[in-house]
Amino acid sequence: MKYNNLNIKEWKKSDINVDSLWLIDQREKSGKHSNIYHGNFIPQIPNQLIRRYTREGEIVLDPFLGSGTTLYECENLNRNFIGFDVNEKIFNFVENQMQDQSNIEYEIRITDVSNQAEFQSSMDSSLKSLRADKVQFLLMHPPYLDIIKFTENKADLSQISDAALFLAKMMDVTTNCLSFLEKDRYFSVVIGDVYKNGEVIPLSSLLINEIKSKFKVKLKGIVVKNIAGNRGKQGTGGIWKYRALNSDYFIFKHEYILVFKKMF
Ligand SMILES: C[S@@+](CC[C@H](N)C(=O)[O-])C[C@H]1O[C@@H](n2cnc3c(N)ncnc32)[C@H](O)[C@@H]1O
Repeated sequence: MKYNNLNIKEWKKSDINVDSLWLIDQREKSGKHSNIYHGNFIPQIPNQLIRRYTREGEIVLDPFLGSGTTLYECENLNRNFIGFDVNEKIFNFVENQMQDQSNIEYEIRITDVSNQAEFQSSMDSSLKSLRADKVQFLLMHPPYLDIIKFTENKADLSQISDAALFLAKMMDVTTNCLSFLEKDRYFSVVIGDVYKNGEVIPLSSLLINEIKSKFKVKLKGIVVKNIAGNRGKQGTGGIWKYRALNSDYFIFKHEYILVFKKMF
């Protein structure tokens, strides 16, 4: 089955990055991408994944919509879209961004994606209006535990400070989402590790283990992506360098793009 529109004959000219290390220094800022949401990802991440793992006209599901980065890339790349979030403020921002006529079909809703009944109902209405019963790609960019608190909403995963609880909630979200992903298609999780109580909590590895042990999936890639310039706190220039050097830890300069294939 061909799951993208890439022309393999043109492989030498392709700008699809097949390396496991992505060093991207400039955030794409064109079009609707405005970088107003602390905790968003750079548009190049959804752009690469959507072009690699979907065909034009297929549906991308993003259960952590945030400021709409994946949605705007779907518009740029002619893919249809379903997205959810619990943050009403950022949801309204995305709705405003989408006021003009769109070239794609999309559905966005305020939904707690860890709640099975709520998620099911939002998916049913969204898929109905897109006249579909499954999606072809799933891109999850959850909070990295409580490192950035997005809302005061109790359903917000960024309210959780305990790693085991966070992983359990992420498994609920993944179960919900995977039930709507077509078999033999791909999904991706973008996540960073965190530092808590004097040690690294490797959220990325913990999540890989949970996902691999719970679902029949194949892990296709662990891509390490640099974090450049977008979080003052993580720069090595200022007070954080002093603090790290004066202590025993390292400053996070990377996050992960995990890619899985759903085999069931
Ligand atoms: C890391 S951000 C996603 C940023 C997005 N990729 C972007 O570029 O703007 C995580 C998002 O998950 C949302 N979120 C947290 N818990 C949620 C839940 N239970 N259901 C739906 N959305 C949730 C937060 O409100 C936040 O907007």
